[in-house]
Amino acid sequence: MTYPIRITSDKVILREFALKDVDDVLAIIGDDKVTTWLSFDSRDRAQAVAMIEGTIERAQQEPRAEFYLGVTERGADSVIGFARIGLSGVQAGKLGYAIAAKEWGRGYATDAARTLVTYAFKELGLHRVSAAIGPDNTASIAVVQQLGFAREGVLRDHVFTNGAWRESVLFSVLAHEWSW
Ligand SMILES: CC(C)(COP(=O)(O)OP(=O)(O)OC[C@H]1O[C@@H](n2cnc3c(N)ncnc32)[C@H](O)[C@@H]1OP(=O)(O)O)[C@@H](O)C(=O)NCCC(=O)NCCS
Repeated sequence: MTYPIRITSDKVILREFALKDVDDVLAIIGDDKVTTWLSFDSRDRAQAVAMIEGTIERAQQEPRAEFYLGVTERGADSVIGFARIGLSGVQAGKLGYAIAAKEWGRGYATDAARTLVTYAFKELGLHRVSAAIGPDNTASIAVVQQLGFAREGVLRDHVFTNGAWRESVLFSVLAHEWSW
């Protein structure tokens, strides 16, 4: 049973979502500055509640296939971002993350992603973690490159977002390449 998860790292804590997080979540997934880089358009309050409810429900499924965690600063409980790995394929997972715009540039995404990928290899026994990133998303590409992900290629018309199809660049890291 991998519920509830709470992992403390250098800068952040990764923890399960709770309904009280709705305002914090809305400040992330309701902000065009953030969602312009994601695979979905900005969401309203009702959609934020639905997102949290769905996340809590899927977190308790056995076996668990989604690890969608809130990111908080150490010593604080408000959610400033999220990191997610969805299991897909053979011992494989897809990584995603976002940080509230007012907290960008402080190393939170790098720390959160590093922590979740370590968890995925060590605790979930994954062999491969991938991340599909918009070609212009320099900050997100910097995150995965810093963590040692390799560029695999381009996924054509991968997501429909901001009213148009957008390709993604696929990055991945394998368990034996990961520095624990
Ligand atoms: C991508 C994102 C999560 C990065 O969050 P963050 O907490 O600011 O990231 P970090 O502070 O860990 O910085 C990561 C790297 O990106 C670089 N970076 C940050 N903003 C940048 C920008 N606008 N342009 C270029 N590089 C940038 C940082 O310098 C850092 O690299 P460095 O350590 O080599 O200097 C954040 O910008 C975000 O939420 N964007 C919108 C959602 C998104 O794109 N999610 C990922 C989808 S694939």
